[in-house]
Amino acid sequence: MSAPLIVLVGPMGSGKSTVGELLAGRLGVAFRDTDADIVAAEGREISDIFVEDGEDHFRDLERAAVRSALAEHGGVLALGGGAILDEGTRELLTGLPVAYLSMDVEEAVKRVGLNTARPLLAVNPRRQWRELMDARRPLYNEVARVVVATDDRTPEEVAQAVLDALELKDA
Ligand code: S3P
Repeated sequence: MSAPLIVLVGPMGSGKSTVGELLAGRLGVAFRDTDADIVAAEGREISDIFVEDGEDHFRDLERAAVRSALAEHGGVLALGGGAILDEGTRELLTGLPVAYLSMDVEEAVKRVGLNTARPLLAVNPRRQWRELMDARRPLYNEVARVVVATDDRTPEEVAQAVLDALELKDA
């Protein structure tokens, strides 16, 4: 049993995977992503899971994937944007070095609005994003040890800001 060095949370498109890879490289540890774990275990894309089996089923798979990753992974871990909706997951995150990568709505639409691989934003992305974030912002803040704004920052700058905020040093 090992605890992750960093857990990244935040909305889709906030750069969790890109920044997570950079952080793992800087710290000399492995990167893991619960979305990728689910895709590998299921042998199909997340958008297909949503369409074929519905969001509730995806959330069940996600809850289990997060629980396993938190128990097994000692490196940098990125969670899917909606993972914090689950109360049990939020409890598991208590006390861990969780960084919330935040981003404003215009940046979000620019980054993911037209990406149909993100099923939750497929229709009317700006409004959907606002509604999603109104519901989720308090939950991201609840689990976060630190909040790092990503707007107008490169992935390298965001990674550095995460290290600084969590008071971690390179390997
Ligand atoms: C989701 C975010 C996605 C993925 C799924 C649902 C969400 O992950 O888990 O499409 O509810 O915000 P990313 O945040 O990695 O894109």
